[in-house]
Amino acid sequence: MSFRTSLDSALNIADLRVLAKRRMPKVIFDYLERGSEDEHTFHRNRAAFERYALVPKIVSGHKKRDLSVTLFGDKLASPWIVGPTGLNGIFWRGADIALARATARAGGVFTLGTAASTSIEDLAAASDGVKWFQLYPWADRKVWGRLMQRAQDAGYRAMIVTVDTVVPGNREQDRRNHFAHNVSYTPKVILDGLLHPRWLAGVWLNGPRPRTENVVEFVGPEATATELADFSRRARNPDLSWDDLEWMRAQWDGPFLIKGVLHPDDAIRAANMGFDGVVVSNHGGRQLDQAISTLEALPPILDAVGKRMTVIVDGGFRRGTDAVKALALGAKAVLLGRAPLYGVSAAGEAGADRALTILNEETERVLALLGCGSVRALTRDFVREVPPIP
Ligand SMILES: Cc1cc2nc3c(=O)[nH]c(=O)nc-3n(C[C@H](O)[C@H](O)[C@H](O)COP(=O)(O)O)c2cc1C
Repeated sequence: MSFRTSLDSALNIADLRVLAKRRMPKVIFDYLERGSEDEHTFHRNRAAFERYALVPKIVSGHKKRDLSVTLFGDKLASPWIVGPTGLNGIFWRGADIALARATARAGGVFTLGTAASTSIEDLAAASDGVKWFQLYPWADRKVWGRLMQRAQDAGYRAMIVTVDTVVPGNREQDRRNHFAHNVSYTPKVILDGLLHPRWLAGVWLNGPRPRTENVVEFVGPEATATELADFSRRARNPDLSWDDLEWMRAQWDGPFLIKGVLHPDDAIRAANMGFDGVVVSNHGGRQLDQAISTLEALPPILDAVGKRMTVIVDGGFRRGTDAVKALALGAKAVLLGRAPLYGVSAAGEAGADRALTILNEETERVLALLGCGSVRALTRDFVREVPPIP
């Protein structure tokens, strides 16, 4: 089967996941996919969608369905925020740019992370879509301030600080694979690389080894991928405080969100401090295992701050139905982690396009079948909490 045919035959995100898994060595796919410890939270994120059933109102008389949302003054054609994911360059060379361009075409927002494989400036030059920047509070205020300044200068519209990674999550599969934000060349890894020649030729042998470009300036221009990975581990801040967050808020002239909020009290505190939004997130089940699923965490947070700030949610979104449930509960937009990564890992920019097209088409179809004319018209009565079916 040709490359194009297999991509076109991917009908859903799960099909793209299979293609991605086939193309990449196990150590790389495991980094993309796996959660921390027993992966309870990783699975709980998906399982929580079963708690809600969609309740259509038939025959709505809408000829077209409108997926658009407005976030901080930007009118977007679709409700997707492609979330920050570090080290995308090890999935596909140039993955950040491929994702940013595909996201712009699909009508969403692209978020570049501190741990990205592409620099703030290079990404901004390569894509003119709406871009946000995700700040990891690594090292000290000098580093945070510098990253925010660069993002401001390059025209990023909003800032997100991620607060659920003050220490690295216990990702046991990565530890088994000797993957520590960086590939170690064990005999098993080398053999696996050789057994995935398309990945090997396209990513590993096709130029310099992908590295976390945004932190190069803090380590040195010649820094290797390994040295940069060491920096990101050493630079964690377990003592990150609300004072630090207040300091950051004051540095950024524009919308500012906190990512990794699960408790309504934290959302209230963020709102009181002048933050503009929260991303209800457990880092895709990659940090605190046994944490509450995001769909379970969402309604109390919406009740607490939904009228005061923008509430966005992520975690396990793989279908249009998933997104419609969260939007009907009251989320303003949905942030995606793995779903577009499966696409870009399977086939670069064409794969990223495919992932986002699938999600747009699914969401539009779901709205039609629900009898709802637009994402903005979704209300809580389109979903009902239902007991599990044994
Ligand atoms: C491979 C990978 C790398 C990630 N890197 C980051 C990161 O650098 N910064 C961050 O805030 N979140 C990061 N995340 C978390 C995502 O932004 C998002 O919260 C999570 O993936 C959502 O769950 P989902 O993958 O089930 O959609 C990463 C997730 C994955 C899968």
